[in-house]
Amino acid sequence: MININITSVCQMTRLVLPRMVDRSKGVILNVASASGMYPVPLLTLYSSSKAFVDFFSRGLDAEYKSKGIIVQSVLPFFVTTKLSKIKRASLDIPTPERYVKAQLSTVGLQTQSNGYLPHAVMGWVTTALLPAKLLNKYVMSMGLSQRARYLKKQKQGPRAVTPNCS
Ligand SMILES: NC(=O)c1ccc[n+]([C@@H]2O[C@H](COP(=O)([O-])OP(=O)(O)OC[C@H]3O[C@@H](n4cnc5c(N)ncnc54)[C@H](OP(=O)(O)O)[C@@H]3O)[C@@H](O)[C@H]2O)c1
Repeated sequence: MININITSVCQMTRLVLPRMVDRSKGVILNVASASGMYPVPLLTLYSSSKAFVDFFSRGLDAEYKSKGIIVQSVLPFFVTTKLSKIKRASLDIPTPERYVKAQLSTVGLQTQSNGYLPHAVMGWVTTALLPAKLLNKYVMSMGLSQRARYLKKQKQGPRAVTPNCS
């Protein structure tokens, strides 16, 4: 988790940033996650590593804005990808194509973005509207029921299933 979400982001930045500085232009979009906007119990390591991506991106954006470089922190909720294991798209769970189209329209406008209007609404509700205590309780209960489903499926058959992350 630390390698794929933290070390990789630092190393990629080290690779691409010097050339961007030479050219005085460039855009870096770092895919964090809505799970990095607040602690997600039972996905604590994932959530914490995504909080790193978010802070790292926002810090770098402040450092390099004057050099013509944009660093955006992207914080999606669920999208139908191989990683999320969600196949059916809906208003709040877009396909990657729909998500990316919406997300790209926020580049240069927002340093930190949920990237897609329904996700922005969800981000606002979870961070600005809900008290942290209530949110923690809700996310914990979601995690517990997801874990129970996973353990039940594991008991039923040999096919391994993994819980999804957002
Ligand atoms: N989908 C969501 O709901 C969602 C929500 C919030 C944030 N995100 C974030 O979005 C980013 C992109 O994910 P995605 O949803 O677009 O999923 P995706 O289409 O399945 O892409 C994930 C990519 O990561 C690679 N990968 C997975 N595990 C790896 C490992 N241990 N080492 C090296 N590469 C690995 C996969 O390689 P292979 O194709 O070879 O397996 C694949 O190219 C991730 O950082 C994820 O945390 C996704």
